Amino acid sequence: MTVELPTSWRSTLPYLSEPLPPDLTPESASGGGVGVNLPMELVRQSVLEREYWQIPSEVLDAYRKFRPTPLWRATGFERAIGARVPVYMKYEGGNISGSHKLNTALAQAYYYKKAGVKELVTGTGAGQWGTAMAAACALFGLRCRVFMVESSLRRKPYRGVLMRMLGAEIHSSPSGLTAVCDRRADGIGNSLALAIGEAVEYAATHEGVAFCIGSGETYSILHQSVIGIESQAQLAELDAGVDMVVGAVGAGSNFGGIALPFHAEARATGSQPPTLVAAESSTAPKLTRGVYAYDKTDATGSGPLEAMYTIGSDYPIPDAHSAGLRFHGAAKIISAMRHTGDLAATAVTQQEALDAGRLLTRHEAVLPAPESGHALAAAAKLATAGADGMRAERGVLVCVSGHGYLDLAAYEQLLNDELGDEAPSETALLSAVSGLTPVSLGAGTPLLAGGPR
Ligand SMILES: Cc1ncc(COP(=O)(O)O)c(C=O)c1O
Repeated sequence: MTVELPTSWRSTLPYLSEPLPPDLTPESASGGGVGVNLPMELVRQSVLEREYWQIPSEVLDAYRKFRPTPLWRATGFERAIGARVPVYMKYEGGNISGSHKLNTALAQAYYYKKAGVKELVTGTGAGQWGTAMAAACALFGLRCRVFMVESSLRRKPYRGVLMRMLGAEIHSSPSGLTAVCDRRADGIGNSLALAIGEAVEYAATHEGVAFCIGSGETYSILHQSVIGIESQAQLAELDAGVDMVVGAVGAGSNFGGIALPFHAEARATGSQPPTLVAAESSTAPKLTRGVYAYDKTDATGSGPLEAMYTIGSDYPIPDAHSAGLRFHGAAKIISAMRHTGDLAATAVTQQEALDAGRLLTRHEAVLPAPESGHALAAAAKLATAGADGMRAERGVLVCVSGHGYLDLAAYEQLLNDELGDEAPSETALLSAVSGLTPVSLGAGTPLLAGGPR
């Protein structure tokens, strides 16, 4: 029997230990600003405590081109790391965008098209999201405009070519086209928060154009649940059990996609969930060293403030290869589950991530994206000596969220011993979060989630 494409997305909103904290409105946040008009179905998917959501047939047809995605036991990788337990890989790199991002891009393009929008505009870091959006717009007959972080576009010019091949218009961010660029001097510089801010502003000032976002929103994590749902069926088919599920975290969609269906299943059946481990970059360590506070999701500060683990939206995140992980905050559902102890987190350096990527390349013949390398490095630690007090006893499932064919420059630096790592200092972190309102901090709780590392 082969595993079938899921026909519903699965939400874990009904099973949260505590309801999501409400957003703070723009008025209380930044003195008013642009609004983001979401199609009603995406709003419903973000707030309703409904477990199953039927996938529209048009989206299913598009999914069929690349799903179900492969899951296999990575025996070569296991041998290379000296694993004590089996390690299973779920691979999302086999579609045109090269990553999991297409799962939500297709759904979003479908809903925006139905709502009468003519053009979608977005911000992208690594470029996978921009490519996914470009592909989804091409499939659903929408125009597409992408603001891509300048350092990323410089490093990966072929991402830009691919998006243009798909018919999208690309701007290197800071683009000079939007007012939010003028705030570069304030330290928001060359970041995903700025690229997103530019896209938000562009959409708000142009007719028939809507802003869309790839990760972090509760609905995008819902769309990514196909990853976890398929994984559960594929593990069952292999008669395999795991006690740890790992994914890399930018804002949280691929991690949420692979991990949250396991949380929902455990709550629905009253069973013990596996430990859900978010692997983040040590250059943007919101879940291990950030604060749980109300913060902006982009550099305009125009949308509501959301409750998130954050290192501060104005913190100038050092330029790193894993651009998809260079985001200051975690999704509100991921943050809420971190706060209630329903998921764990560990930080991984760029060197560790790319080393793990090299191992996967050599021993599984799969070249992963540097972002996925973070999940692989965390999985390798959990399957061997352990990390941050966690150690797998049965097996580890890890999401290989994308391929690294357009990231070979990063691997070249690894091979030439030229990689750098820059973790934020405690002082820099404290100053970046000092103006934020905490969501809830008990007496004696340290302001930062971790301590100095
Ligand atoms: C390959 C890859 N993996 C992981 C991530 C981070 O994912 P998320 O934003 O879903 O947390 C990204 C983001 O761009 C990515 O491109």
